Amino acid sequence: MKKVIDLIAEELEAAFEQAGYSKEYAKVTLSNRPDLCEYQCNGAMAGAKTYKKAPIMIANDVVGQLEGSQCLEEVNAVNPGFINMKLKKEYVADYLNQMSSDENLGLEVTEEPKMIVVDYGGPNVAKPLHVGHLRSAIIGESVKRIARKMGHKVLGDIHLGDWGYQMGLIITELSKRQPELPYFDDEFQGEYPAKAPFTIGELEEIYPTASGKAKEDEGYREEALQATYLLQNGHRGYRAIWNHIMNVSVSDLKKNYANLNVEFDLWKGEADAQVYIPDMIEWMKKEGYAHIDQGALVIDVQEESDTKEIPPCMIQKSDGASLYGTTDLATLIQREQDYKPDKIIYIADKRQDLHFLQVFRAARKTGIVPEQTALEFLGFGTMNGKDGKPFKTREGGVMRLENLIAEIEEEMYQKIAQNRTVAEEEALKTAKIVGMSAIKYGDLSNQASKDYVFDVDRFTSFEGNTGPYILYTIVRIKSILNKYQADGRIIEGIQVKSAHNESEKALMLEVSKYSDVMESAYVDLAPHKICSYIYDLANAFNRFYHETKILAEEDETKQKSYIALLMLTKRVLEACIDVLGFEAPERM
Ligand code: ARG
Repeated sequence: MKKVIDLIAEELEAAFEQAGYSKEYAKVTLSNRPDLCEYQCNGAMAGAKTYKKAPIMIANDVVGQLEGSQCLEEVNAVNPGFINMKLKKEYVADYLNQMSSDENLGLEVTEEPKMIVVDYGGPNVAKPLHVGHLRSAIIGESVKRIARKMGHKVLGDIHLGDWGYQMGLIITELSKRQPELPYFDDEFQGEYPAKAPFTIGELEEIYPTASGKAKEDEGYREEALQATYLLQNGHRGYRAIWNHIMNVSVSDLKKNYANLNVEFDLWKGEADAQVYIPDMIEWMKKEGYAHIDQGALVIDVQEESDTKEIPPCMIQKSDGASLYGTTDLATLIQREQDYKPDKIIYIADKRQDLHFLQVFRAARKTGIVPEQTALEFLGFGTMNGKDGKPFKTREGGVMRLENLIAEIEEEMYQKIAQNRTVAEEEALKTAKIVGMSAIKYGDLSNQASKDYVFDVDRFTSFEGNTGPYILYTIVRIKSILNKYQADGRIIEGIQVKSAHNESEKALMLEVSKYSDVMESAYVDLAPHKICSYIYDLANAFNRFYHETKILAEEDETKQKSYIALLMLTKRVLEACIDVLGFEAPERM
């Protein structure tokens, strides 16, 4: 189905042309004066210069052509030259009925599905997940779902940080604690044990201990660096430990991400890119893309139009070690080979923007990525506490993700248990679902690049611009629909009729914007646009609800049309929260 705004624009284009003006001026926007109109066109102002005419004259000419319009009920030319428009009630109702009868709610999916890789999550194996990784997971999951909704083929790749110094630290600490293990015996030829020499709990203690020791003890640090080097160069025993670390951590990570409703199609990591590195480096040298600068191998990425200095992309340190950028370039080779993506979207802390700029430029310069493949970096801001500093525990430590989730769920549970009498089990389940909306909506309702304050009290509130408020609205609709049906009435096949009052029309107009919002959230990689839309939609619904008797309505035809509108509103809200990565409970 075409978008409402495009349907209006088509009529306006025809009107501009019939009045003797170019249709390029017929651009339609949502009204910024909802008290005066619903849509507007400011093209007469833009055309004034071209046609050497007062804008109001142009506007009047165009309005004159719009009599008998299909979709517009009121069109006014207003000084200095605005064209203000209101849609016909029956036109909106008809549009909504078409939406209802389409399983995709009228959203036109793309005719040319693209292969898109979304690189998000990016946790570092063996280090506990902390809130810093929360944003990448939440935003990435939503971007992935939005792109899928638009009909693209999307692969979400977690891109684990699984090849770095942290692995050397763990190996070193383990060698101190259990030196008798066969991994540390260079003579050992047999098969290594299948069972890991540590649990996830132990692993989570080993890493910080080792990291602390390395900071204080230069010798220890050297050992860890050496272990990292040996691991990366094929040491058999260390590789076996690495496998254990991976197995233990990945199953823990899977559990944590599942708790967040975040699902990856690919569980690849930096380690998977390593096999591509030697050939890549050889070839970069041979083709002259890379050169030695102060002992390191680098690719220059400065461009003439740059206003500031962009340092070269480092490929190999003087000791032969590869770097973060090397791995990302090698990963691009792998992705190109395996999936031939049309687009790759990276979601990481915005402080990594220089890194991605260097990698993208190096990838283009060397032709690792074909010209037509889009590389996009969506950098996000910091999640702060109420004190405006990066979010910490009450004690000032790094907040672990599971503790944060537990805290929110507890808060939600208190509220739910207070509000009504429900069985403990149901209250706990509901608290989980609503808690998820609090966390995700709290994050996604901000433009990704901005820092935001994680405010537990505000995010868990049932009022205001929050996830729980959206869910509360959906639950309210569900409850009305249930009551309606409880009396044996059928809801299948009922239709929306022209709005009976102003708040109903306002709600209908909001519902009709669904495809437009979804599409622009995709184009701009902006889940916050969906949040602000469903907030408006929920507000429009609640206003309608407060001003209208629905279940007590005696006129059956009217009541049916209300119910049809409620069903559609619910479907739109549910489709939106689904791409945001959460769902609604039955009751709350
Ligand atoms: N592991 C990295 C970190 O914790 C994020 C990875 C982002 N993705 C990438 N392809 N570099 O900072």
